Amino acid sequence: MLTEITEIQNQALQEISQCEKSEQILEIEKKYIGKQGALADILKNIKNLDVEAKKTIGQKANISKHEIQNALINKRRELENKELLEQLKAEKIDVTLPSQKPNNATINALSAIQKQAEEIFEKMGFAIADGPHVESELYNFDSLNFKTHHPARDIQDTFFIDKEANPEHGKLVLRTHTSPVQVRSMLKMGAPLKIIIPGRVYRNEDQDATHEHTFYQIEGLLIDENIGIGHLKAVLEEFLSQLFNTKIETKFRPGYFPFTEPSLELDMSCVFCKKQGCKICKHTGFIELLGCGMVHPNVLKASNIDPNQHQGFAFGMGLDRILMLKHGFASVCDLRANDLRILKQL
Ligand code: DAH
Repeated sequence: MLTEITEIQNQALQEISQCEKSEQILEIEKKYIGKQGALADILKNIKNLDVEAKKTIGQKANISKHEIQNALINKRRELENKELLEQLKAEKIDVTLPSQKPNNATINALSAIQKQAEEIFEKMGFAIADGPHVESELYNFDSLNFKTHHPARDIQDTFFIDKEANPEHGKLVLRTHTSPVQVRSMLKMGAPLKIIIPGRVYRNEDQDATHEHTFYQIEGLLIDENIGIGHLKAVLEEFLSQLFNTKIETKFRPGYFPFTEPSLELDMSCVFCKKQGCKICKHTGFIELLGCGMVHPNVLKASNIDPNQHQGFAFGMGLDRILMLKHGFASVCDLRANDLRILKQL
């Protein structure tokens, strides 16, 4: 029996020394020193031996069991260390690799150009005014000298709020332009006055490449004594030259707006071809930009300002239009598509 125990021990120690995976340790343990292992198998017959032999065999079996156990413990430690090292090697981090850039948010291109425009006008002494988006017919149309049957009031162009008309203010509408804030500001602050009104406006339009139901305008209003069209031209040329970072020339054409007299359309020299003629300016060297004019005496009267003492000019432009010209876009929809490939270029 002693030799059998020695054999089992040798066999176990050999198997342990050849073992290469820590998961196999448990199996080896079971096989040799487990409850149904090889050693336990031998010791089943020990009860038939005499006392002295029992003692010798028992001692030998215990020693062998300890030897095997120690060998198992050492091997497990060795294998676990080795495996940990391999794992660490596999997970090695290369600190010299370039890091991934965080996806930083940026200001939307429309907000950015609005801010830029505001800063230029503020430097020229203009204050920034604002007014309600849900406006009354009185301010959106009547005070601005729109006659009762002007087509702009038509359901096609204006979003009317589904509520009964107020006897003095008429129906509620989503403001179709920023011009009502002219009247509100004159009533509130009187003359002289020098303001710009940036903001969102709404029209009941079908959407296409150049039309949207919601868009942005910048309105300007200057009221003082002895104001003429020359002042209007100078202010707008200065604004455009600063915005486009190059000397811009402007040209007036006759226009029509109920709230200005005379009314004018302003064209600016083409920033793309420097007046040489290109596709964007349709080979004219100039690009249509905005509506403007001298404030109509009826608008001044509706705003409690005496037209014999004060005059002024006003202008209104689409923010999208300026942005498109600045970045050479074909359609306003490009800006609203929330396509990062486009927005990231701005
Ligand atoms: N309110 C006009 C529009 O939405 C734009 C405009 C034209 C504003 C002439 C003005 C102006 O102040 O003088 O089409």
